[in-house]
Amino acid sequence: MLHRLLFSIRSLVQEGRSEESFERKLFKLFELAGYFCRAALVVVLVVCLGVLTIASPAQAAVDNYVRRYLKVTEPIALDLDGQGQTKQFSAEDLSKGKELFEAHCLNCHVGGATLPNPTESLALTTLAGATPPRNTINGLVEFLRQPMTYDGTEESFWCRQVPESWMPQAQIENLAAFVLRAAQKAPGWGSDRF
Ligand code: HEC
Repeated sequence: MLHRLLFSIRSLVQEGRSEESFERKLFKLFELAGYFCRAALVVVLVVCLGVLTIASPAQAAVDNYVRRYLKVTEPIALDLDGQGQTKQFSAEDLSKGKELFEAHCLNCHVGGATLPNPTESLALTTLAGATPPRNTINGLVEFLRQPMTYDGTEESFWCRQVPESWMPQAQIENLAAFVLRAAQKAPGWGSDRF
């Protein structure tokens, strides 16, 4: 387009002798300039939109369920060890945890229930009643690294074991944080009835 514009200017200078042709050329020139401006405006708009989308990845990384049902937008403190220590988790951490849960746990634990063994759901009171208790981040991580029966006496082969080589500490803590927060807040989480 720019090329055509320059070409028009050149031919205007070279050939613009007769009055009529000069006017026509001038009109064409303005028309071309108009197209050029509009095209430039579109390019600027597209670039601005692109920048706006890329500039707000934090917003995009937060799952709507986390914001709406787990009521997390600012970082929250979750019980780490049942001894008064807590750890902060952001809405992004919990969204990552939710993704892991959906990918690896949902089949058996949809909505916090435990389909193969409904009495051992992921409800907060059920987690708290296990030996040792599983209603803390450390308690949940310890269970997932080596699942045990509810009374803690034997290894359980029912639940999915999560070794370090699969999920490093930071990841498994995000997963545990999602489970714990959902157990605290999510409506209908951990029901033992279907
Ligand atoms: C193949 C089905 C299955 C999958 C997949 C599975 N679980 Fe389990 N989970 C169970 C069963 C069954 C139990 C009860 C254990 C028992 O009966 O010994 C259980 C127990 C648990 C408990 C203890 C509940 C309580 O009240 O004490 C937690 C926590 C748990 N699972 C979390 C997870 C997480 C997180 C994942 C994903 C990494 C997962 N499970 C994947 C079947 C599964």
